[in-house]
Amino acid sequence: MNIQPIPLFLTVAGEKRLVTSDPGRRLSEVLREEMGLKSVKVGCDAGDCGACTVLVDGAQHCACLIPVAQVAGCTVETLESVEDDLLCSLQEAFLEHGAAQCGICTPGIMMAALELLRGTPQPVAAQVEDTLGGVLCRCTGYRKIISAVMAATAGATPAPLPDAGEAVGRPIRRLDGQAKVSGAEVFGADFAPQDALLVRVVRSPHFHATFSFGDLDDWAAAHPGAVAVLTSDDVPGENRFGVIPHLADQPALAEGRARFLGEAVALVVGQADAIERLDLSTFPVTWAPLDHSVTQAEGAASGAAQLHADRPDNTLICGRVVTGDAETALARSAHVVSGRFQTGYVEHAYIEPEAGAAWLDGDQLVIQACTQAPVMDQEETAKVLGLPMERVRIIPSAAGGGFGAKLDLSVQPLLGLAVLKTGQPCRMVFSRSESMQASTKRHPSTMEAAIGADETGRITAMTFHGDFNTGAYASWGPTVATRVPVHASGPYLTPAYAATSRAVHTNGPVSGAFRGFGVPQAAICQEMLYDDLASACGLDRLAFRRLNALKDGEKSPSGQVLVSVGIEACLDALKSHWDRAGAEARAFNATSDTVKRGIGVASCWYGCGNTALPNPSTIRIGITPEGRVRLHQGATDIGQGSNTVIAQLAADALGVAIADIDLVGPDTALTPDCGKTSASRQTFITGKAAVKAGEVLRAAILRQTNLDDRARITLGAGLLTATDGINRSEIHLAGLEPDANGYVFAAEETYDPPTSALDGDGQGIPYALYGYGAQMAEVEVDLKLGTTRVIRMTAAHDLGRVINPVLAEGQIEGGIAQGLGLALMEEFIPGRTENLHDYLIPTIGDMPEVVSILIEKPDPEGPMGARGLGEHVLIPTAPAILNAVRDASGARITRLPALPHRVLAAMRDTS
Ligand code: FES
Repeated sequence: MNIQPIPLFLTVAGEKRLVTSDPGRRLSEVLREEMGLKSVKVGCDAGDCGACTVLVDGAQHCACLIPVAQVAGCTVETLESVEDDLLCSLQEAFLEHGAAQCGICTPGIMMAALELLRGTPQPVAAQVEDTLGGVLCRCTGYRKIISAVMAATAGATPAPLPDAGEAVGRPIRRLDGQAKVSGAEVFGADFAPQDALLVRVVRSPHFHATFSFGDLDDWAAAHPGAVAVLTSDDVPGENRFGVIPHLADQPALAEGRARFLGEAVALVVGQADAIERLDLSTFPVTWAPLDHSVTQAEGAASGAAQLHADRPDNTLICGRVVTGDAETALARSAHVVSGRFQTGYVEHAYIEPEAGAAWLDGDQLVIQACTQAPVMDQEETAKVLGLPMERVRIIPSAAGGGFGAKLDLSVQPLLGLAVLKTGQPCRMVFSRSESMQASTKRHPSTMEAAIGADETGRITAMTFHGDFNTGAYASWGPTVATRVPVHASGPYLTPAYAATSRAVHTNGPVSGAFRGFGVPQAAICQEMLYDDLASACGLDRLAFRRLNALKDGEKSPSGQVLVSVGIEACLDALKSHWDRAGAEARAFNATSDTVKRGIGVASCWYGCGNTALPNPSTIRIGITPEGRVRLHQGATDIGQGSNTVIAQLAADALGVAIADIDLVGPDTALTPDCGKTSASRQTFITGKAAVKAGEVLRAAILRQTNLDDRARITLGAGLLTATDGINRSEIHLAGLEPDANGYVFAAEETYDPPTSALDGDGQGIPYALYGYGAQMAEVEVDLKLGTTRVIRMTAAHDLGRVINPVLAEGQIEGGIAQGLGLALMEEFIPGRTENLHDYLIPTIGDMPEVVSILIEKPDPEGPMGARGLGEHVLIPTAPAILNAVRDASGARITRLPALPHRVLAAMRDTS
């Protein structure tokens, strides 16, 4: 094609730039790939997510939908090209309000906000919601974004960073926030070495099929620009990966048989411009479809196609926790309720599809990609590629959301294979549909339970069984099967208990980790039945939960004696809101016929860290001769805030100002192993390692002085000063001999939470500490349409110790948004909803007001008393909403999500 210059002018630092491009190319690609304006993020290439929002002549547009010729002669603004005071104010407001978490949506959100603020400097919330309605955020729950935009022109002044020893508990701004609001953050697709080859994946179009290849050499030769075609025959190591090593079963490239729709079977590697345009439907592969199953019932049925020869009946694993004689206790109970509940696949729907780049540095393979688990990636990738671990270096890029799915390998072994085979740098980016096909999902579930109570309303016993659809490969199925029976009672004293679970293979997408590891599904079952039981006992629903809430010194169903149990405090914190909301609902309903208001409540508890398994984190802290503190922390911050929270803990433990700290990593070459970002473990476990390292380093420093632990440490240029107010000691750092890492003082400490293995009845100490919470939903249900609107969520969570209240609130609001999606709208249907217009997640207009109540009941095991929070905040949301829907309409929802037709059907069933 004869490419003509197009007069496309971009305002970049006041300069008009003329670019040359294929007239039909997407504006987003031109801006990113030709002009290097990487703040323009690509989340879907379909105008669904809004991450690529730019301003064209001052109006917001999705750049992925616009052929570049269409904006010829226009002024196009991206985040990095705007230079005005208004943007600075907006950035300050985003930092102050904690409005950016992972930050992948932030440039698009800010461009849309700029459009509004230029015409309406002081918008009201409804105007912000209208203007930002086209940009999705999966992390924040939008509330802090709304607050930030409304406050932008008020001019936030950054509060000074706290003094030494005062960082914990302060709402300091995210330490890594500046890059997020400037658009400079480097996500998986934002970096690749010059002239890197592009890698694309050939995927199975069938749920289950055998396949064979034609002449791959001929096909490659017929496609100029193709450098290599790779199949499982090219995998040099053990072609099996999985997060649980002894159950690793997923091939990087399938070997003659594909077990799920979208499974990778081959790679095409070559020059980017040629490979981008390749029609992979011409790839020489012949398919022979096989019988397949998609639901857990189909997978478990006799005669179902078997996924793995060594797993009869498609059973991956079973879980069990038993104490007492639950069946007998139920038979003797004054009241017994029971039910069956079903949930479907739920997609993580992070805005950043999986992406990364890889290259050789000498004989070391370097992979820079989005991930939640760098050391696990290093181990698994090295195994697949047949390399010793030290020959693989993982540098996590910024992750544009993860929520559990980026714990599993995605691009890493494929990039590594392409680099090893071609000897050239390579890059790859999953399309939205590839991401949704190939990434893990929340386990679909079928759960049955019965719960009894005595005449006074005290719980007597519970039986529970859950089948969880783990999809084609193991992934985190064993974790879900183990964790669910431990938690299925909820945070209530249950003297007799029999809970079992089963992870069932199907040809559905691989189910993995998704914020809660099956506990959110179990909470739906238990909390909806507790409403039934409260009603049977004639008790108020909140009072019933308060009566049965676990207390200090009581035993969990696993036989663990619990300490510092925060659930009573959480329920008590809701009481006044419950009374107010109930009165308001009654008043509303007295005057409204079609729309009815209802309230619901649900609780949660959640063990932080691995279940009954070792789970260590290691932190290194060093002091440089120049007087800076370097915190080597390998925990990936996927938006939850660990970069800031762990630094706050380290600063206070060491006794220095947080401004003295520089972050290092994560990077497997630079940071010790902090484990994976999962199971609400980083604040607890890595935070505790940081506290230990800080304390050890402080003691080492003070030993060089004549002062005790009360001394105050101050760092200056090359000088450390310690004083107790009377005596003073100086250490000239520049004069000390640095160690191999360049530090004149250093400490490296590991923390592994004390747990014990569970016996055959699930008895033991599965977790060293738990977090607790309770949420209350207020909803309106249209009785004619079956639609539900959540108008307010009140969330009380016990954090043990609040490290950073703004970040904690952000976690709560974001978790509630995902819980709302689980309750009301999200259902992934393989083969049908592999995009963000058929798979719907909450938009800014769906989010209710959120009232967060932060409770501090310190846990003796937590760092400075702190507990984890990330998963807890999602667990009670869906059952609280569903209980409110029932309160408003009478509809007892037993299959999620509560789509309007299901609400109407459930109303008919109860009438
Ligand atoms: Fe919005 Fe992560 S902060 S998607």
